[in-house]
Amino acid sequence: MGKQAHGGNLVWAAALAGCSPSAILDFSASISPLGPPGSVLAAIESQLNNIQHYPDPNYSDLRNTLSHFHQLPSEWIMPGNGSAELLTLAGRDLAGLSANLGATVLITPAFGDYYRALAAYEANVLEFSLFSADSLGLLNFQLSAISTHTSGLLLNNPHNPTGRLFRREEIIPLVDKFALVVVDEAFMDFLPPEEEQSLLGAVQDYPNLVILRSLTKFYSLPGLRLGYAVGSPQRLQRWQSWRDPWSVNCFATAAGVAAIQDQEFQQQTWSWLPQARQQLFDGLVKIPGLTPWNSTANFLLVESEYSCEHLQEQLLKKYKILIRDCHSFPELGDRFFRVAVRTTSENKLLLTALQGVVGNQE
Ligand SMILES: Cc1ncc(COP(=O)(O)O)c(C=O)c1O
Repeated sequence: MGKQAHGGNLVWAAALAGCSPSAILDFSASISPLGPPGSVLAAIESQLNNIQHYPDPNYSDLRNTLSHFHQLPSEWIMPGNGSAELLTLAGRDLAGLSANLGATVLITPAFGDYYRALAAYEANVLEFSLFSADSLGLLNFQLSAISTHTSGLLLNNPHNPTGRLFRREEIIPLVDKFALVVVDEAFMDFLPPEEEQSLLGAVQDYPNLVILRSLTKFYSLPGLRLGYAVGSPQRLQRWQSWRDPWSVNCFATAAGVAAIQDQEFQQQTWSWLPQARQQLFDGLVKIPGLTPWNSTANFLLVESEYSCEHLQEQLLKKYKILIRDCHSFPELGDRFFRVAVRTTSENKLLLTALQGVVGNQE
């Protein structure tokens, strides 16, 4: 089993740690430790009798629930088999711009799956580093060199792996410029309503804007696969015609309805995250040679004076703890790692383990 390109490769980690995958404490995948919510598990169980039928290809229940939740017409919403499936469809739309000599601008470091989705349809990719621009305003200026009106932009907000949040006002001028803007808001739900910077409210004003959302991180459902796209009905109908009619199964649709309606779980997550993230941040700052970056999401990017590949191996072998190395982000390489924010007691285990392995490096 090869090394992971994504977080959460427990089979690979367990082979190195010499234990079963379930014995690994996984900080590499940015999944909430609080879920899945009981309401979602009950909804999944309730579907057992439905596996003898095809799912409703219109996903009406889930789309109506999301429509009510976001105050948007249901024709503007399309569920997917994880946001990764929708990213592939977005990749096809973005690649289509190449016919008019357009390119797709990627803000780097970028989530590895963006490269996959764009390469699948041979999109012409132009990379712009977040580190050199340091603000989307400056990026806007750099972009004056390319024909944005025939090009696309794929942006992630909050940004993985840095955890940085772009404000709506920073993004809207880019939506005005580009032919197509896809904003991946896979981690936006971790921000409470008064802090989030989602562009969902702008979608009906901009037919060239598509938002991708995931339900796998906040509700701890990565194995179930569920996300949704929000965009113009014409675009979503085209996307629907490109894929198989039943790509979201009955368990995922029922889980989605229950999850979206579970306000208690949402409140619980919004109260847990700021404190747990601060606890982890403060603990990391105290470890010599490690510098965590401020984050608005449920993960922290950590700059390290030590080889992260080595730290990762030692943490696995000695503590059965998996952290995310950053080799799939070429700008970051071996001097950065990423960790999910987990429960207070699990965060303490990570901090103690890191102190142990860093102590041995000095
Ligand atoms: C930024 C980003 N977008 C999208 C995804 C895909 O999420 P999903 O499980 O909904 O396919 C991930 C998964 O790690 C991610 O990090």
